[in-house]
Amino acid sequence: MNRRYRKTVIAGNWKMNMTASETKKFAEEMKKIMPRVKWCETLICVPSCNIPAATKAFKDLRISVGAENVYFEGRGAYTGEISAEMLKDLGVKYVIVGHSERRQYFCETDAVVNKKVHAVLDAGMTPIICVGESLEQRETGITSEWIALQVKGALHGVAADKLRRCIIAYEPIWAIGTGKTATAEQAGEVCSNIRATIRSLYGARIARSVTIQYGGSMNPKNAAELLSQPDIDGGLIGGASLKPDQFLEIINAANQD
Ligand code: PGA
Repeated sequence: MNRRYRKTVIAGNWKMNMTASETKKFAEEMKKIMPRVKWCETLICVPSCNIPAATKAFKDLRISVGAENVYFEGRGAYTGEISAEMLKDLGVKYVIVGHSERRQYFCETDAVVNKKVHAVLDAGMTPIICVGESLEQRETGITSEWIALQVKGALHGVAADKLRRCIIAYEPIWAIGTGKTATAEQAGEVCSNIRATIRSLYGARIARSVTIQYGGSMNPKNAAELLSQPDIDGGLIGGASLKPDQFLEIINAANQD
């Protein structure tokens, strides 16, 4: 983390978990233990149908509500899809874009990710742009080239003043939901390469201000070490964000004086 230049952001990603009633219960548990968060922003991205329930339940918790996906068109005949404006109207501030599960199961390409990034930014929200390599890519030694391509693809045509609002989440696919975490050094190295890519596109001052998260089996045991890396400014947390006590410990790790 480097709080002098950029925000630390701890974000939960509930994926396809938690009903509206479970969301309420989670918030009640969280209310009993939530600390005064001084040094980081906290949010949870929830299934779209639970956004109103989460907004209501998290109101006094200082946890913002994010969405897990969005469609890039503004409106029209796209049965089942949800626009950025619709999310914005519900009070959403953050939207996950390009999660590896969406790339893998729903065929999202870098071009689609880029359109979604623009839609989210145009609606005045913050995209949490996910990038990450497969195990095969890591073992072949092409991680840094692959990630640089994903970052450039996602940010294509994004103006510098809007980039300041973007969050990049480095999520190695082999570490997601597997219990295998990248070591702090591995994660720190990729995040610093991501910053270098942004620097090459936008210059040092802007690159320094962008929040870069790590995601992939982040948990109470490894959070502090990962966050101690200078280019890791937070976490995108799946499994551990479903349990109030575990999520709290990760928030505490980011909220140290
Ligand atoms: P995980 O998921 O923490 O369960 O590995 C992270 C993510 O997919 O965002």
